[in-house]
Amino acid sequence: MRTQICIIGGGPSGLLLSQLLDLQGIDNVLLEKHTRDYVLGRIRAGVLEHGFAALMREAQCGDRMDREGEIHDGIEFAIDGVRKRVDLKALTGGNSVIVYGQTELTRDLYDAREKSGGNVIHCVEDVQLHDLKGASSVTYRKDGVAHTVECDYIIGADGFHGVSRKSIPADKIKEYERVYPFGWLGVLSETKPVANELIYARHDRGFALCSMRSQVLSRYYIQVSLADSVDDWSDDAFWTELKLRLPHDVANALETGPSIEKSIAPLRSFVAEPMRYGNLFLAGDAAHIVPPTGARGLNSAASDIYYLYHALLDYYKKGDDTGIDKYSERALARVWKGQRFSWWMTNLLHKFPDHIDYDNRLQDTELEYLFSSENALKSLAENYVGLPF
Ligand code: APR
Ligand code: PHB
Repeated sequence: MRTQICIIGGGPSGLLLSQLLDLQGIDNVLLEKHTRDYVLGRIRAGVLEHGFAALMREAQCGDRMDREGEIHDGIEFAIDGVRKRVDLKALTGGNSVIVYGQTELTRDLYDAREKSGGNVIHCVEDVQLHDLKGASSVTYRKDGVAHTVECDYIIGADGFHGVSRKSIPADKIKEYERVYPFGWLGVLSETKPVANELIYARHDRGFALCSMRSQVLSRYYIQVSLADSVDDWSDDAFWTELKLRLPHDVANALETGPSIEKSIAPLRSFVAEPMRYGNLFLAGDAAHIVPPTGARGLNSAASDIYYLYHALLDYYKKGDDTGIDKYSERALARVWKGQRFSWWMTNLLHKFPDHIDYDNRLQDTELEYLFSSENALKSLAENYVGLPF
């Protein structure tokens, strides 16, 4: 088959771009290795920057987000048991975030693609990219039958473990990585969230986070050793440890219940440069990963899609390839700001096993400065609600 854009990966990045391009009459095919239900089974954070929410509305996929998503004007920090609210809306002159689970957002994108008859092909195997510098194509197998997609451009939106980034010659790509010496044990429970806003807790026992998916679905995390496994943590052990890391009033108000999902995720910062090689453009987790502390993963993906969408629009509608030529430079400039914020939040709130006393006093000082300076709080707030595209 022949198309203008071949998108590899049916996660939020690939789906959002596919929908945006389709609305502009730019032909695209999306190849996804798993079933739709498998993709929707992933439990991921959903704290949406206001720019991302606007992009979802532009994609005509924002109705349920606006109806069911929760607008959060602030977030809380609990520093050694003391609660401190950060008024995001006041500090940014009116911007907030929307809390709306990634699963639901991805479901809305799949529904939109299905409604408009989008060409989304699931359960593809052996995806290979060809002639990235010439007449590009993507081959794959489905149900044992070989297929070829001839296209102008390939979008690698296939996540960290996908095939796209690995299709770039090793001498043409540079990878930057930092792996953190701890993980996050996350629990999803059908309980009422302990607070109306997210609570990021720094405690001598380790980091904790109180989040939510809705008013009846809570998401909690505690920092754990990389040596831990999920089997080491019963639900009771999790709730007990979480309470120890929270302010007393929050711990006493915590509604516990059976975990419906429990997993440990490692924390990594990763960026691959450049995000373009010939006719291949990387987007989202295929090009970069952040520790979840700053809730930038999904938002960094959306940032790439914003730049890619406008670059392809300018190319196909105006014959202007400036955006295409500058995609990697523009996307990376914002990606690295998301990396910085995620790294800063992670260093601010976690207990590092290899830190010396000086490091720990520096963390205390960073927190003391943050909450004593409106300018420092404004910096946190403008990054959390989303820097301009
Ligand atoms: N062929 C086709 N599809 C593939 C291949 C392949 N070889 N490899 C991976 N995929 C699919 C995966 O099954 C997945 O559905 O690509 C999709 C990539 O989706 P994500 O990993 O969700 O990445 P992205 O769309 O960039 O979204 C980033 O997801 O991982 C979270 O925290 C991250 O919130 C952020 C968001
Ligand atoms: C989540 O709800 O899963 C979540 C929220 C905010 C974060 C990380 C995870 O910073």
